[in-house]
Amino acid sequence: MPSAYYQPLEPQASDDNDERWAIEDDDEQSSGRTERSSQYQHLHTRCYPQQLLATGDQLPSMGMAPRLRGAGTCRRSYCIMLLLIVVGVCFVGYFFVSPQSAGRGDDGAEDANGIYEPHNGKDSTTGHALNEPLHICSESPEDRRVYIQDKPRSAYAQLPVIYFVTPTYPRREQIPELKRLAYTLLHVPRLYWLVANDQERCDTFLDTLLSGFGIPYAHMASPMPSEFRKSKPAPRGVANRRAALQWLHQQNITNGVLYFGDDDNTYDLRLFSEIRQTQRVSMFPVGLIAEYAVSVPVVRDGKVVAFLDSWVAGRRWPVDMAGFAVSLAYMSQYPNVNMPYKPGYEEDLFLRSIGLRIDQIEPKGANCTEILVWHTQTKNKKSAVVRLNSEFLDGRSNLGALFQSLKLMGVASASDTEGPVAMISKNGKSKSHSFILS
Ligand SMILES: *[C@@H]1O[C@H](CO)[C@@H](O)[C@H](O)[C@H]1NC(C)=O
Repeated sequence: MPSAYYQPLEPQASDDNDERWAIEDDDEQSSGRTERSSQYQHLHTRCYPQQLLATGDQLPSMGMAPRLRGAGTCRRSYCIMLLLIVVGVCFVGYFFVSPQSAGRGDDGAEDANGIYEPHNGKDSTTGHALNEPLHICSESPEDRRVYIQDKPRSAYAQLPVIYFVTPTYPRREQIPELKRLAYTLLHVPRLYWLVANDQERCDTFLDTLLSGFGIPYAHMASPMPSEFRKSKPAPRGVANRRAALQWLHQQNITNGVLYFGDDDNTYDLRLFSEIRQTQRVSMFPVGLIAEYAVSVPVVRDGKVVAFLDSWVAGRRWPVDMAGFAVSLAYMSQYPNVNMPYKPGYEEDLFLRSIGLRIDQIEPKGANCTEILVWHTQTKNKKSAVVRLNSEFLDGRSNLGALFQSLKLMGVASASDTEGPVAMISKNGKSKSHSFILS
């Protein structure tokens, strides 16, 4: 199957307060998050304003020019009328179709720098922002598990379904990682596993493996469009998640909960009971993320007020892909739901595309004091030290209890004098600790 078969959405044009960013590959520990999309290790770490680089015109150039030229040979008044109609159609098309029909740049890196603009969601063919062709390799909605945890399957029949989306890609560790994940998911009732593999063809070994677990699943082939493969960093895992979003759309699923769960993370079973009741968007800490060994919403009085994450880079929602869950009833109200091919900004732009407001976020994991998901990597790293004044690590926010437990587990500790100063941000802007925490 040619990858051109996948018609990727254009990275979207600019949001209100965004600058343009280009992301440069850089393999070690500089400013940014060094390991984000778990299974995709060699990601960006630094961001530069795009103006520093050659800037292509990201905006739609439209298909109208040729048509106008053709019409220019008409001389009679009805030709002028026709011309006006064509212009009118193009004009309407510009506003309603342009986000999807804009010419795709040849350079994937340039595309990846595209800026996101929430658009009005009219798509030329589907009325939906995503328009991915889908390649289902195998699927089974049947749950063949007899018992789950300590109860027969029927005991869970009333629970909302969790659609667990796992992007994966062929590599040495793929099968063992998926097996380990499957043996976690086997304990989770009412779960539908959407496994999207970054490969042109269906892997029949995966078909057999997945169907053998007896968990309802769909296995799809979702190769990264070829024009992105050469860009650095490549938008890994995006085609996969877009395919899963398209699957949900095609199946017209408007209840249950969506969660993006990479194949190499570690999941506490309590995570699933917590996110299952998500009303709009729930958020919770993810362990072992980047420099602080944690990415976490800052919670006060049961409300999310800011974010602690070492890589802000203008992201309004500086969270990890595994750090949130979305109600599908909520998401279905946003026909523009989208995840543009923009490395490092997938979470932010996805959450922007569903109109999230900070006061709507439901903090989980005991007000974000417990870590229920870990961005595990089979790497040995020193435990993190983060500079965060102990004066603020009391009961006023979740950070006191969270860092106490991170210390007990030997993952990270807060210090008054050592380590990088903890970045706490709101609306994509860094804030002083006292502003948020005192
Ligand atoms: C979260 O914090 C709010 C406000 O302090 C409190 O009412 C609620 O019980 C807390 N939730 C949990 C699960 O601890």
